[in-house]
Amino acid sequence: MSHDAIGIFDSGIGGTSIWKEIHQLLPQENTIYLADSANAPYGERSKEEIIELSIKNTEKLLELGSKIIVVACNTATTNAIKILRNRYPISFIGIEPAIKPAALQTKTKTIGILATKGTLSSELFSETSEIYAKNIEVVEVIGSGLVELIEQGELNSTLIRNKLLDFIQPMIAKNIDHLVLGCSHYPYLIPLLQQLLDDKVTIIDSGQAVARQTHKILEQSKLLNSSASEGNCLFYTNASLAVLKNILQANNPNYSRITVQQLDF
Ligand code: SIN
Repeated sequence: MSHDAIGIFDSGIGGTSIWKEIHQLLPQENTIYLADSANAPYGERSKEEIIELSIKNTEKLLELGSKIIVVACNTATTNAIKILRNRYPISFIGIEPAIKPAALQTKTKTIGILATKGTLSSELFSETSEIYAKNIEVVEVIGSGLVELIEQGELNSTLIRNKLLDFIQPMIAKNIDHLVLGCSHYPYLIPLLQQLLDDKVTIIDSGQAVARQTHKILEQSKLLNSSASEGNCLFYTNASLAVLKNILQANNPNYSRITVQQLDF
């Protein structure tokens, strides 16, 4: 087995938004994506469980031939990436809420962050806020139930719309001008959020930054694939094949080049 792929895992289908950015920037790279939807959401789990699941996913990605691993889940990054980095001899790229750019750009000195309980209560998140958002107000809201609905393929129902409204009301009341999406599932809600938010509010997600960081680390480690042809894109899920297929099909014009399979992991 050659270890030549970028391995990516998430608690489910949300990290496909990160995969898309990586594939756009590095189309020649082989990618293997694990959607651990059977164990979603991670955001309500204990730190120990999140670490255990992250190790399980990493072992599977290494077995399948990964040269580098992208933890495309905010909750897994903020709770487990330090442990993964200490345990395995390869590089891990994580996804953290983009507090820094929002804090640098805000004019109202107030930003909103929508994330899971697991992310907002993590040490890494507190450390990041402490460093970058010292002099601004951060309105933190837990997006309870959003991941479950997105995992069911509900991206535009009345239920999810009403939930989002409840979550963003306190942020609007505080006059935020930036909304940070702190969960890799939430970029799929951007069209809905744009309808609900004033256009003075800028929505920030971390997908492109993760793709750029992946490129940088591969280049520094001399692991970039120099092939001129497009890489293979393999997706595995341990739950509904249909939900993963639907989200990929709806968001990728070259869906026919993607292989989606069910796998026990
Ligand atoms: C979750 O599984 O609860 C959300 C994933 C994330 O935090 O990105």
